[in-house]
Amino acid sequence: MSTLFDPILVGDIPLANRIVMAPLTRNRALPGQVAGPLTAEYYRQRASAGLIIAEASQISPMAQGYLDTPGIYSPEQIAGWRQVTDAVHAAGGRIVLQLWHVGRISHSSLLPDGAAPVSSSNKHPNAMTFTREGFVPTSAPRALRDDEIPGLIEDYRRAARNAIAAGFDGIEVHAANSYLLDQFLRDSVNDRSGPYGGSIANRARLLIEVLQAVAGEIGGGRVGFRISPMTTFSDTPRDSDPQALFNYVVEQVAPLKLAYLHVIEGETGGARLPEDATVAFDYEALHRRFSGRWMLNNGYTLEMGELAVANGQADLIAYGRPFISNPDLVRRLREKAPLNELRADKLYGGGAEGYTDYPTLD
Ligand code: PHB
Repeated sequence: MSTLFDPILVGDIPLANRIVMAPLTRNRALPGQVAGPLTAEYYRQRASAGLIIAEASQISPMAQGYLDTPGIYSPEQIAGWRQVTDAVHAAGGRIVLQLWHVGRISHSSLLPDGAAPVSSSNKHPNAMTFTREGFVPTSAPRALRDDEIPGLIEDYRRAARNAIAAGFDGIEVHAANSYLLDQFLRDSVNDRSGPYGGSIANRARLLIEVLQAVAGEIGGGRVGFRISPMTTFSDTPRDSDPQALFNYVVEQVAPLKLAYLHVIEGETGGARLPEDATVAFDYEALHRRFSGRWMLNNGYTLEMGELAVANGQADLIAYGRPFISNPDLVRRLREKAPLNELRADKLYGGGAEGYTDYPTLD
């Protein structure tokens, strides 16, 4: 029987334990969307996680949707991230980067030349984003043309290459939480005709091509991806048949031998079994179809995580908010020590307060 504290090989990446730090947006990038020394210190403090998934980072200027999030498309950004990966590796940790395109969850003030956000369609969600002016409604998006898709896939490929150049152990493709790849997957948003809309095969095509591109660039053993089949984050309704959709994705990417699949169960950061759901999702049925490591996330306590790993329901458990307020979360879980309270007003933006000043047990 395995425990959360046992080592595990995830693709090509050996981990000291099965406790993962989930990707968490903190909006503390420096000008140029560069991760700075404070961010290196923040991740270094958390290096006892088996794996850190560094916060969602935009693959291009058009991929940004919130103020002061880091990028992975410029030489300065690679150099900034290099300080982070060096600090984590020197502390014995492992770290991958989450590759992000927000699609329609953005505001023109954050985009080059005040451009409109791009998506699979021009449907405008009733969602908010965070800009220099505070929380504001997202700007109306425009549907990407089919002839823009190759360039988009190239942006993912370059971002994966940049992440390896920055010293990351791998990357996670963000296909969850109603961002761009999810906007192509779901029939609630994607109303395209042509190769990227309509059937499940067509709506899944972009994600599959992105995974093929990044795995071709850095090797499938350094690639994971994250999905959230049941979340309605950012006013984005569920797909009409998420089970069939994600079963198909998993079957199609089998030849890539990806390192892991990271699944958010239920509503992101909310109910694990959403009461309003009119469609069901059988996570175990998807698990049975996937041959890489299986990572679960959303509201896990120590007891829930231990049980899921012991009974084979999960190989890895990702903890989000507990890792923000407990840099030594692994030790606290092992010793069943009390956890620090989260300072929710310090999540997004600011400096060291509520970022690098949470106490460890010593
Ligand atoms: C956020 O910035 O609020 C955010 C980013 C990435 C997610 C979810 C939320 O996957």
